[in-house]
Amino acid sequence: MPSLLITNADVVNEGLRFEADVLIRDGRIAAVGADLQSSPAERVLDAAGHLLIPGMIDDQVHFREPGLTHKADFTTESRAAVAGGITSFMEMPNSKPATLSLDALEAKYARAAEVSRANYSFYLGASNDNIDAIRSVRVGQSCGVKVFMGASTGNMLVDNEETLAAIFADSPLLIATHCEDTPTILANEAEYRARYGEDVPMSAHPLIRSEAACYKSSSLAVGLARRFDARLHVLHLTSARELELFAQGPVTGKRITAEACVHHLYFDERDYAEKGTLIKCNPAIKGAEDRQALLAAVAEDRIDVIATDHAPHTLEEKAGTYFKAPAGLPLVQDALPSLFEQVHDGRLSLETLVRKTSHAVAECFGLEQRGFIREGYWADLVLVDLDAPYSVERAQVLSKCGWSPFEGRRFRSRIHATIVNGDVAYEHARVNDAVRGRRLAFRGVR
Ligand code: DOR
Repeated sequence: MPSLLITNADVVNEGLRFEADVLIRDGRIAAVGADLQSSPAERVLDAAGHLLIPGMIDDQVHFREPGLTHKADFTTESRAAVAGGITSFMEMPNSKPATLSLDALEAKYARAAEVSRANYSFYLGASNDNIDAIRSVRVGQSCGVKVFMGASTGNMLVDNEETLAAIFADSPLLIATHCEDTPTILANEAEYRARYGEDVPMSAHPLIRSEAACYKSSSLAVGLARRFDARLHVLHLTSARELELFAQGPVTGKRITAEACVHHLYFDERDYAEKGTLIKCNPAIKGAEDRQALLAAVAEDRIDVIATDHAPHTLEEKAGTYFKAPAGLPLVQDALPSLFEQVHDGRLSLETLVRKTSHAVAECFGLEQRGFIREGYWADLVLVDLDAPYSVERAQVLSKCGWSPFEGRRFRSRIHATIVNGDVAYEHARVNDAVRGRRLAFRGVR
């Protein structure tokens, strides 16, 4: 593997911002220093004027293999990910068939090893009847156990009380939950159907997939985690009220952690008028005050990590009416640029952005030697042009579904280059298709 010397970078790492050179050998960071310019290296990348941050580790993506590859696949979505500065991803089990066994997990690893441009890990899915598979999973075989405590895309609802108790009592790995109470949602759906028939307006989505549905399910998850002292990570929080369930403070040592997603931080209910079903997702994008509360919770370390929940569907599928259009949107390519908008608008500091998209994710999941710019760690890095405005256009979309919820929006910062295990995976607006990611390694955090 050729050595690489990055010079004159404006580094943001571990709460500090400083100018430095970074030397990379054998895929790892060999040195970080003020004057490494005389170090021999096969390639020198002058980063003057660019920010250098650790690559984003996205703990929630849906890349649709196997079985749903008309929407997305590991090749297309990992290309979009590296173009967006995401160097590692953790992928969800609601493929077809769902990832409910260790064999299904290993098949995903084998496929990713062939084609993925970014580093990867896969969740083991929970169902009402795979507790034996969950009990047998070991650290390193999966990033965590995903439990749909509310029904969403795919048929993976776990609503049996005994099964839920067994998962929280016995899971050898972190438990990641989707929290929305399905009976509450079904009752709300019936009410709106009675009023509007099939023509329910998109603006009703946050009232159907309501704050009450989220709170009921999140509080059940938190209660179970306390009862069994489980390691719980609640995915994609969307409402101000749920935030009271989570503690403020550093991620290290927390038994219960929380995630927010980029679209819930960027959009709010006013955007349904323009974007319609394109921003239909579960849990729903909610009110402007919820968005403000989520951003404040990120800043005060009540929300521990930021992810995407990248969930592509085709435009044909999205063209359906409220009930027919599937929930989910493609996000990996635009996630970091959308977060830099929050930085420009003064809602997020650069140091917090880096902590929530890399350091804290590595700590939350017990990732080995990733997520920080530290000597000896894997060289997963992103160079950012902070001041290089562009408009998001469909022609530039790399996700297989071929559209972006941010089309027409202007972003002020762009990804200049992405380095995965010391290889330049993206540069000059092109993906290097020779690069392959690695399987993520874990210390174990249960
Ligand atoms: O909006 C969503 N889409 N939420 C989920 O929980 C699943 C995802 C998908 O897979 O499409």
